[in-house]
Amino acid sequence: MRGLFISFEGPDGAGKTTQVACLARALEAAGRRVVCVREPGGTRLGEDIRAILLDGSHGVVPVAEMFLYLAARAQLVTREIRPALERGYTVLSDRYLDSTVAYQGFGRGIDLASLEAANRLATGGLVPDLTILLDLPVEVALERAQNKTGPRDRLEGEALSFHRRVREGYLWLARQNPGRIRVVDARGSVAEVFEAVWRAVREAL
Ligand code: TYD
Repeated sequence: MRGLFISFEGPDGAGKTTQVACLARALEAAGRRVVCVREPGGTRLGEDIRAILLDGSHGVVPVAEMFLYLAARAQLVTREIRPALERGYTVLSDRYLDSTVAYQGFGRGIDLASLEAANRLATGGLVPDLTILLDLPVEVALERAQNKTGPRDRLEGEALSFHRRVREGYLWLARQNPGRIRVVDARGSVAEVFEAVWRAVREAL
């Protein structure tokens, strides 16, 4: 039996990484075998691309940025996600194709039809069974992201208007894909948010 593919989306600071870890534990406790991946990353090529993208010293132009995210994704889908699903694992991905539509499409203004075609090419048409969108007002998300230790990465340093467009993009995607994308209010505590995540996952199982 093919495993379930679940992606997590939302702004920096929404708590995706924490919720992915909580869900992995809950699914394992329920007897499922789980693999967690993150984007960009999850393969050696992907982690190298991640370092280039987050470092910020390259002056990467929007279309180059898009291709870098997609290159990391193509490698991850082919080498990790598809094989794991075929072996019956449930795959949890911290970001996936909706990030590109929200950040490079709505955020940077790359034409959506081209983006969707490129995303299809990179993923070979592999769409998640369920996507959890952790939604948060932009100001709250940025405050949380900035409270993390360490230097702010390139995208966290973008203008407020950029992050507003990204959020709009995500909410637009949720309206376009009501069967796949579940919007979860990410303002509560970790436990409160997880309760909503778990409800969405149980309904999808
Ligand atoms: P990361 O440190 O993983 O942030 P987070 O913990 O919020 O996921 O950095 C990933 C950054 O890359 C994040 O700011 C969003 C951005 N991104 C895109 O712009 N396009 C994409 O396709 C993906 C996967 C990520």
